[in-house]
Amino acid sequence: MGGESTGPQPRKNLTPVNQLTPGRCHDAGVRRPFTPDLPIQTPRLELRAFEPDDRESLLAIHSDPVAVRYVPYPPRDEAALEPVLQRKMGNTGLTGDGDLLELAVTVRDSGILIGDLLTALKSVEHETVEIGYIFGGAHSGRGFATESVRALLDLAFGMIGARRVVARVDDRNVRSLALLDRLGLRPEAHLIENEWFKGELSSEVDLAILAREWRDRRGGGLAAE
Ligand SMILES: CC(C)(COP(=O)(O)OP(=O)(O)OC[C@H]1O[C@@H](n2cnc3c(N)ncnc32)[C@H](O)[C@@H]1OP(=O)(O)O)[C@@H](O)C(=O)NCCC(=O)NCCS
Repeated sequence: MGGESTGPQPRKNLTPVNQLTPGRCHDAGVRRPFTPDLPIQTPRLELRAFEPDDRESLLAIHSDPVAVRYVPYPPRDEAALEPVLQRKMGNTGLTGDGDLLELAVTVRDSGILIGDLLTALKSVEHETVEIGYIFGGAHSGRGFATESVRALLDLAFGMIGARRVVARVDDRNVRSLALLDRLGLRPEAHLIENEWFKGELSSEVDLAILAREWRDRRGGGLAAE
């Protein structure tokens, strides 16, 4: 990734994140088809659709062995990344079970891409979505990932209308577990040696948060989360 001053400029016509805070009753279930109004703005970040120009920045993240340690793919080279970027550019909305919505995370000041968010519509019937994310190490430790996943939860419980959001994390992935704990996701299960992962047995922590729990947290003035 290049220096912060050389990135594209932030764009206009943004959706402030406070418009996404859950307020509506979700009795209607998951909204389908759902296409987010992008970009979404947080205090320091912008969430937007992927673009062809994201190739280099995304490669810097996905080729890093440390970043991909606990995600289900090996470090990617240019050839492996290309179809992934195409897929990400196409995953712009949710209609049925298994659909993915993928968002690029950029720093508002610089336009630099720092991370990659994923929302999977896990079950329309059970109004459940699963979240995933990967961020480059260069911008780690400043709360950027937490800030963007908070916006993703606002989106999931707000406009998407999810009742329950889940995440699955390798139990050795302490940074991811810390992030989800910071945002109030509850560990619900610890699956011991449930999968072979990258040549070794791994154990998984399943976490979740309900819409009413998220509303309570957001309504409770948790700006310092
Ligand atoms: C998981 C991952 C996103 C966490 O990244 P991170 O840098 O720890 O998360 P954040 O950007 O939210 O930064 C949190 C840190 O910034 C600090 N921080 C500073 N300002 C902050 C703020 N305003 N809000 C929250 N945290 C803040 C926190 O205290 C924390 O510090 P610590 O690392 O000393 O505990 C990242 O490690 C990653 O992408 N890993 C590889 C991919 C992956 O494993 N994905 C998850 C698969 S389940």
